This record gives sequence, C-alpha cells and structure tokens, in this order.
Amino acid sequence: MKCRVIEVFAPATVANLGPGFDAIGLAIEGLGDRLIATTTESGIRIIEITGDQGELPTKWSDNTATVAANCILKTLANPPGIDVVVHKGLSLGSGLGSSAASAAAGAWAAAVLGGIDPRVNGDTLLRAGRLGEEIAAGVGHADNVAPSLFGGVSLIRHRFSDDNDERLPPVEVIALPAPSELRVVVATPHFSVPTKAARRVLPAKVPLASVVHNSANLAAMVAGFFTGDLELIGRAVSDVIVEPARGSIIAGFARVKAAALDAGALGCSIAGAGPTCFAFVANSDAGQRVGEAMSRAWRSAHVECIVHVGAIDVEGARVVSDSASDGEA
Ligand code: HSE
Repeated sequence: MKCRVIEVFAPATVANLGPGFDAIGLAIEGLGDRLIATTTESGIRIIEITGDQGELPTKWSDNTATVAANCILKTLANPPGIDVVVHKGLSLGSGLGSSAASAAAGAWAAAVLGGIDPRVNGDTLLRAGRLGEEIAAGVGHADNVAPSLFGGVSLIRHRFSDDNDERLPPVEVIALPAPSELRVVVATPHFSVPTKAARRVLPAKVPLASVVHNSANLAAMVAGFFTGDLELIGRAVSDVIVEPARGSIIAGFARVKAAALDAGALGCSIAGAGPTCFAFVANSDAGQRVGEAMSRAWRSAHVECIVHVGAIDVEGARVVSDSASDGEA
C-alpha cells in the first residue's frame, strides 16, 4: 500500500506569564515535540515514543497526541488510518507545555492527512488539542495548546454559549502581536511537577484585592504586547495569586527569580505549572546573562537545570516533511 508520511513539529509554550493564569500563553522558538504520522487503511496506533523514558502511555486512547488526532479523524467522512511515532523534545511535567505540544502535533498531523487545512479550521484543531490536553492534565485549558497550534501570543477568553459544553467550556482565542525583539529565557530544573499536582495547591478562594492586582497586570501586559513596550510586558509579570502557592512547591524558585531580576530580566515567574522558570529580556545578550544567573541560582540550590533562550515562535505547529512511501506502514 502506498502511504503518506509527514513529520509535524509543535513548539514549546509558556502559559500564564505571571498574572494570566489559564488566560495567556506564548510559543517559544527552538524547543518542541516532533511527531511522524503515516497513513494506514484504518485505525490509530502509537508505534513508538522516544524521549519520554518510557513514562507516556502507548495505548492510543490514553495518549494526548493520539486522542487529539482521533478527535480530528472523527470529524471526517472517510478518515485515513494513522500510525504515529512521537519524539518528545520536551520533558514531561516541566511547565513548557509538553502534553500540549504533543496534542497540537497530533491534531495538526491528522488534519493534514485527512485533507483539512489546519489554518482554516482553527476551532476544530483547538477543540482536538484541548481534549488531548485534558487526558494529560485533567483540564482542557487552552493557554498552552492555542499558542503551540497557532504560534505567537494567545489570549484565552472563556465565553458563554447556548451549547455550553460542561467538559470543555467554549473559549475564544485572541492573537496578540509578538514583539520580534523580545526573548524568553526558560530555565528547566531536573525535576518535574505534574500539572495536576500543581493545580491542587492553588487557593480555592482569592481576595478581591488579589484579583484586582492580577487583572490590572494582565491588562498591562496585553497593552505591552500591543505597543511593543518590552519593559511594560516585564513589569506586568506580577502575580499575587498563583506564583506564591506554586513557588512554595518549587525548591529554589525564590532564589532563581531573584537572580534573574538582579541580572537584568524585565520580569520573571513560573512557566505554566512549573517547575521551569521563565524570564523576559530585551535581547539575546541579556538572555545569555540572565540564563547563566538562573542556572547558577538553581545550582546553588543543588539543582541542575537546562537553559534555553528563544524568540517567540510565531509559526506554531507545522509540517516539516511530507513524502510518499511504498509498503507497510
Ligand atoms: N494554565 C495551566 C496551569 C498551564 O497553570 O495549570 C499548565 O498546563
């Protein structure tokens, strides 16, 4: 049988950006997951997963990438079968949207192989990606999945509608301008924090003054993205709700943040559910300096870490190779 084989890349993401819990996220250049999908006669299978130290489920219905892919296939009259190989570039439970990147790649691959243009079917792709994310995180939040699919900076607005789906509340994704000079430093320590655990430590009730603080800072950050004011974006990384709760379960967080700010970061907080810390800087040299300071700070807390400095990835998920092959998938 003649097969079509595509390779899809989906970027890492930083969600929350401080004040915007579950409401904002951005994609970063240079980090992400790769997924190779091969058409078959029917069904969906995971053939192999690499880079996960054997931790991810290989049953298709339990894996974020194939759940997302299947959600796309179910929308088609004559869906192809798909065999999937996932190459994890992102550590699990790192805070860089690992499950979302796999879900985005799975949804993107299924759309392309099923003959749907992913760029004009954004809502379908987003729903599929969120269902994949839900399998891994327990919640189908969109602040990692949306930027991994569509690139750039995504603001997520929950909306009410008549067809309100209890399981997956409808959202609207608003694409914000991505300043090309902004660099994102991510320092990922060698330990993981599962998103489910990091959500359990969050306060059930929040003082009104804290809501006012975070809302104003998220609004300031959005203004900063629109005006390209990098310093404002950095100042707006100020979160009095989620960071204090999660900072207490990330050993070394306080000293890493202090080190980043001392080294000239415009702002610093926890990436997504952590434990990765992110910092905004105005250029690559500053990124290098801030990254080294964050790394030294982790080491002083007896934690090794990997640092990456990247611009915002404005492309999102994409096909990086596409070929036909003969024989068995
Ligand atoms: N907004 C999510 C959270 C992102 O902070 O829990 C993590 O997947």
